Order: sequence, then C-alpha cells, then structure tokens
Amino acid sequence: MTREPTISGDQKQRPRRPRPADVQKEIDNRLRPQRLDEIVGQRDVVQRVQIAIEAARQRGESLGHILFDGPPGLGKTTFATCIPRELGVPVEFLSGPGLGKPRDLVPSLSNLQHGQVLFIDEIHRISNAIEEYLYTAMEDFRIDLVLGEGINARTHSMPLPPFTLIGATTRAGMLTSPLRDRFIHRERLGFYHIDELTEIVLRNAAKLKVTIDDDAATEIARRSRGTPRVANNRLRWIRDYAQTRAAGHITLAVTADALQMAEIDSLGLDGQDRSYLETLIRVCSGGPTGIDTIAATMNASSDTLSDEVEPFLLRSELILRTPRGRVATARAYQHLNLPLPPQMTLFE
Ligand SMILES: Nc1ncnc2c1ncn2[C@@H]1O[C@H](COP(=O)(O)OP(=O)(O)OP(=O)(O)O)[C@@H](O)[C@H]1O
Ligand SMILES: [Mg+2]
Repeated sequence: MTREPTISGDQKQRPRRPRPADVQKEIDNRLRPQRLDEIVGQRDVVQRVQIAIEAARQRGESLGHILFDGPPGLGKTTFATCIPRELGVPVEFLSGPGLGKPRDLVPSLSNLQHGQVLFIDEIHRISNAIEEYLYTAMEDFRIDLVLGEGINARTHSMPLPPFTLIGATTRAGMLTSPLRDRFIHRERLGFYHIDELTEIVLRNAAKLKVTIDDDAATEIARRSRGTPRVANNRLRWIRDYAQTRAAGHITLAVTADALQMAEIDSLGLDGQDRSYLETLIRVCSGGPTGIDTIAATMNASSDTLSDEVEPFLLRSELILRTPRGRVATARAYQHLNLPLPPQMTLFE
C-alpha cells in the first residue's frame, strides 16, 4: 500500500537537507559538457535521447522518464544536466539517500512546472516508502496527500503537471522491477575508448587554459581507466605539475613524470590497486582468498575494495572472482614483474 505524507495546515515546509559540500562536484561542474552535442562518445545513447526529445517536442508532450545506469564518472549526471537544457525546461536535483520520507518529495513534486525535469541521483538508495510514492507520480501524474491529522485526516489526490523523472544509479540491479519498469527509456553508459578520452582531455585542457601536446593527451587517456572523471582529475594534477615544474606546457615527458609522482602506472593503476595485487600475490600466494582477508591484511574496508578497487582490476583481467575467493591472473604477476608460479602460463 502507498504510504502517504501528512501535511497539516499550520505545518511549515521542512527546509531541504543541505547537500554535502563536495569538491569533486565542483570540479565536475566546471568541465561538464553543457549540451548533448558536446558530449564525447556514447553516440548511441545521445542519438536515442535526441530522438526522444525531438518526438516529445513535436507532440508537445513531456519527455518519458529516463533511467541512466553505469559505473561512477561516466556521464550520468552530465546527461541529466544536458537534457533539460535541450528541452528548455527547469530541473531540480535530488539525491536518493537524502530523501527519507515521502514528505521530503512533496515540495519538489507540488512545485513542478509543466514538462520540468526532476533528477534523482543514486535512485537505488531511496526508501521503499518513497519508491511507492513515486509510482503514481510517475505513471498517473498524481500524488496522494493526507491533510489534517487524526480523526480529521483526509486524503486528497493532487494532480501533477506532466514531468520527466531522470534517475541515475550505479547499481541498477538494486532497483525493484516496478520502479525500473516505470522508466520509459533505460540507458546504460559504458566505458570510453582511448580516442574518446583523448578528445575529452584536449577539450578540457582548453577549458582549463593549459596547452598540451596530442601524445600527452593520449597518454593521460590511456591511464584513465576508460572514465572521463578520472581523465579530468589526472589532467588537473598534471596541469598543477606542469605549472610549477615545467613552464606550464604539458608534454609527454611532463605527463609521465607527474603520473609517476602520483604513483599511477602504465595501466592506470594507483598505489592502492597495486597494494591489493601485492597482498593477493605475496601474502596470499595468488589466492583464492576471500575479500575480507585481503581487506584485513591491507587494513582497508572490504566495501572500499569491492566498490573502488576490484571493478577495474577485474576489467583489466588482473584478478578473477571465483566462488572460493579472489585469484590473481598471470597478467597480474607480469604487471608487477613477479615470477609466475609453475602451474601458470601467460597467454598473449
Ligand atoms: N561523455 C562525456 N563527454 C565529456 N565529458 C564527460 C562525459 N561524461 C562525463 N564527462 C566528464 O566527467 C565528469 C563526471 O561525469 P558525471 O558527473 O556525469 O558522472 P556520473 O556518471 O554522474 O558519476 P557518479 O556515478 O559518480 O555520479 C563530468 O564533469 C564531465 O566533465
Ligand atoms: Mg553523478
């Protein structure tokens, strides 16, 4: 059953929860593409979104709800910022974990303008009550409010103007199917190719007003884990390094020196990634070893390792996840310049 928020006559609107000051967001916002045609890569997704926008505009309807899913830093928020600009409508940003009770949603829903975009980031972290409350809002453009309290309480059904919900999630699997199915469009963002990341680095170097050689941009792209946010962060560090140590211009040599100083190696692994591999190989004889054992040995949390370290090691084929635990691959030994155990061969 849908739980309804209670609004009594004299109850003041609760102030919005302050969002945590986030340096990363600040950085992201400065370099974020503003329009769909400034988005590099993800061509299929861009084209589908453009078609949906054009069709909605021709029919004079609101755009269907869209869910973006994919690992961090690949452009979910970027799409969610570009779409309302293309539509020429306002947007309100909400964060899933910040929405505790359905009534936290009421101010946003009751102030919606026709065709407006409501963006909910980390939508997999909304509570069940919020989720149920969204069902009628998304499907019927209506919400139920309970006015008054106790014996005088009355349910009032409030119509909403047509609007577009954009959801973003790094964990689409955690969304229930009723919520997932209410999104008309579902778009999964994948990792970027080196030439796409090179393009992003070159464009953002211009935005940051720093000059860069093409081969340096490609090198940054190569060491950025297929992820624009990582490329941007690397670029900013190398810009600082070039400014203080190398007359401000980014060459391949400056890039290599700056990345070495930041302990980022040729595959884009950082110190923590290598420490994970060394623990697995040296201490745990290459596995199979449980994540908790690795975490305890490294003095790290297993959540950090499984969310931030392992996805890239798995994608780079440096480790395997087996039912008995994590195993280092021959490639991991080779990358760390360690001798292969006798039973292991390297296939190139
Ligand atoms: N396709 C792209 N073209 C150019 N720059 C991009 C693209 N995608 C992402 N970026 C850059 O990467 C930064 C991070 O992207 P964004 O904030 O959209 O990621 P996200 O998927 O929302 O990540 P998270 O899951 O952590 O919220 C942006 O500020 C932008 O500068
Ligand atoms: Mg985001």
